[in-house]
Order: sequence, then C-alpha cells, then structure tokens
Amino acid sequence: MNVGARLLRQRLTAVSNAMRAAAHGVGGTVPRAPLMVYLEVTRGCNLRCRHCDIWMTAGKQGANGRPEMPADRIVEIFAGLVRHGLLAIDLFGGEPLLRPELPDMVRGLRDAGLHVTVTTNGTLLSDRVCRALAEAGLSQLLVSFDAPTAAGHDRLRGKMGTFDAAASGLSRFGELAGGRTRAGVNTLVCRDNIDVLPDMVGLCLKLRARQLRLLPYHQCYPFDSYRRDDALMPLPEDLPRLERALRELREKAGESGISTNCGPYLDGIAGWFGGSRQKVRCMAGVAVCDVNAFGDLYPCFTLSKPVGNVLERPFLELWTSPEMSLHRDMVESCNRCWQSCYIEPGLRLSASALLADRKAVLRDLREYFLPHR
Ligand SMILES: C[S@@+](CC[C@H](N)C(=O)[O-])C[C@H]1O[C@@H](n2cnc3c(N)ncnc32)[C@H](O)[C@@H]1O
Ligand code: SF4
Ligand code: SF4
Repeated sequence: MNVGARLLRQRLTAVSNAMRAAAHGVGGTVPRAPLMVYLEVTRGCNLRCRHCDIWMTAGKQGANGRPEMPADRIVEIFAGLVRHGLLAIDLFGGEPLLRPELPDMVRGLRDAGLHVTVTTNGTLLSDRVCRALAEAGLSQLLVSFDAPTAAGHDRLRGKMGTFDAAASGLSRFGELAGGRTRAGVNTLVCRDNIDVLPDMVGLCLKLRARQLRLLPYHQCYPFDSYRRDDALMPLPEDLPRLERALRELREKAGESGISTNCGPYLDGIAGWFGGSRQKVRCMAGVAVCDVNAFGDLYPCFTLSKPVGNVLERPFLELWTSPEMSLHRDMVESCNRCWQSCYIEPGLRLSASALLADRKAVLRDLREYFLPHR
C-alpha cells in the first residue's frame, strides 16, 4: 500500500474511533485504540514543584526499582497502534528531557505518523536539545509557566532561575525550530496565581507560544494525593475573582489569536474548585489513557490500580480486556476531577462543544487529522 493510501486508512480508522468514543456514553462503544496516549517517559525530575507529587513517588505506585521503559520498546508499541487509529501521544514525566533518547523516541513516533507533544519544565532546553527535537520532527512543545514573572513562577517551582531558564529555552527553541513545531504554554491555576492569569496571554505572545493550556490544581494528581498543599487551593471567597480572571484571559487570548482550553472547560474551573461535581463524560480509558514510566496502563493516573503492563501484554489485548471494562465502569461513575487531559476530550467530542467553540474543534481536527511536517 502506498504512503497516501496508508495515511488515508489510518485517518479513517481514527475518525471511526472518534465516533465510537463520542457514542460511548449512549451505546457503550469503545474505540479500537485510544485517540491519544499520555506517556510518562520518566518518573525522575530536576525540580521539586510545590504543586506536584511526581518527584516524591519513587518507590510508590509500582516504581520499586523497576527500570523505565526502553526507548525502542516505546516506539515499537505506540507506533504499532497508529494503524488502529492512535493519533497523538504526549511525552511527559517527571521531566522528559532527562531522557537522553527523547529525540529518538520523537523521531520514531513521528515517522509512524503520530502527532507528538513533549511537555516539559523547559529548564533543560539547551541549543543541542532544541535542535535535536526540531530535527526529529516534534509536532508540539508545551513548556510550563505558572506565572508571567520570575518571582511568581519560581516560588511555585521551588527554585530560583527556573523562569529565566524556561523562557530562554522556549525562545531558543522557537528560533532553532523555525516555526516547524507548534509551541505552547501550560499554566497551573491555583490560589497563588489567580490575579496574574490574564497576563499569561502577554507572556505567550512574548515567547511566541500559540497555545495557552490551563491546568487547575488537583490534589488527586497524579496518584491519589501523597501530599496536599491546601494553601494552593482557591477558597470560596477567591472564586468570583477567579471567574473574572478567566473571563479576561479568554477575551485577551481571543483578541491575540492564542488558542486556549475550550469554553465549557474554562467555565467549569471555578465551580469545580467550589466543590460542584458536574458529571461530564470523562474520556479516561475511552478516548485517552495513561501509561507510566514502567509500562503500566491506566485509564487515568488518578485511579490507583493499573489495568496491566504494556511490556508484558500487547497493548490492544489490555485495551479490550475484561480488566479494562471494569476500569471503564469505574470511570463511568467517577466525577472526582476536572483535569483537562480527560475532561476536555469529552467536552470537545460533544455536539454542544462543537456549537459553542467551533474554532477550537476545527483547530484540533486540523492539528491531529491532517499530516504535517
Ligand atoms: C507533571 S508535569 C510533567 C512535565 C514537566 N515536568 C512540566 O513540569 O511541565 C505536566 C504538567 O502537570 C502540571 N501539574 C503538576 N502537578 C499538578 C497538580 N497537582 N495539579 C495540576 N497540574 C499539575 C505541571 O504544572 C505541568 O504543567
Ligand atoms: S511539575 Fe514537572 S517539573 Fe515540577 S516537579 Fe512535577 S514533574 Fe517536575
Ligand atoms: S473524572 Fe475521569 S480522569 Fe478524573 S479521576 Fe475520575 S476517571 Fe479519572
């Protein structure tokens, strides 16, 4: 089969998967493969952020001295899912740039036709790494900035100099990649940064990032809250300010052409902090899933028991297993979080989202379904 015909077949399978995911809540249909995988390529990290538990989980949830998945197995397993309709993969961690083979992983996954994102704290983006990632064909680089200034960002990230390192890393990446890779910013939403959230749009413009993705602080992230920093949770009296800040951010982003989370998702953030638990169709284990650094597959990392291990059993065997169905039942009745990775796909795959935020849905379709290099 020639390349064009192969690509067309893959994209048609992905469309059929998206339709099956969209109909999951009504007819129980499940895609042949996930549309998107969040892959923790390492548990290690060079930072100790206030809001994050990952760096303290060595030895927990199955780490236990197990080796991280080898790069070649990662490529083999996830490249093999493309013909079953997998469209995109997000390589995160820990800090993914701590893995020297990261550019090789990106190249292998891109060559298979996947949309590949790297999510990083940005502090290790040397010229050599930027060049290697761009040459490997990286589709999207997301760098975390939790405030528009060094003082605010470094306070949350636990280390002075983090903001400057990440800002110069992202700028350098932009120059070296020459527009081949889409750049974006991930921003935590917490009590500490409510008033500066609208200014994140200006930071994106300065750093030539085209996307601003908000991640509300979760205490169930990633593995059932080993540690809680209650001071980061907005209080009820903060919520009207948070709503105003999010409205302003959305307006500024719209005027500047910066894409951000979909409208229904942004609208739900303050309510979620206020304790309202909307039941939306969570897409964990249906359209998206997580695989940890050791190969354990989860619908979402918040559910504490894995379905199985992708190094030990073929991914698709796990995806269609009775264990996975049991996990899907748990997801069905779960409304514990408002995490963008799992909640947004459900919102975007609904008719109401298409009507409310047509531009965002069309952008996703263009990003993920059209071949690009
Ligand atoms: C887990 S980090 C891994 C990649 C990289 N180390 C980084 O900081 O971007 C991915 C994203 O999750 C966010 N994150 C970490 N802990 C979080 C929490 N408790 N609630 C919400 N987002 C969180 C980080 O701020 C970051 O943007
Ligand atoms: S948010 Fe990222 S950089 Fe910070 S501790 Fe967690 S994994 Fe490390
Ligand atoms: S709502 Fe979905 S993503 Fe959130 S904890 Fe429950 S199953 Fe996981």
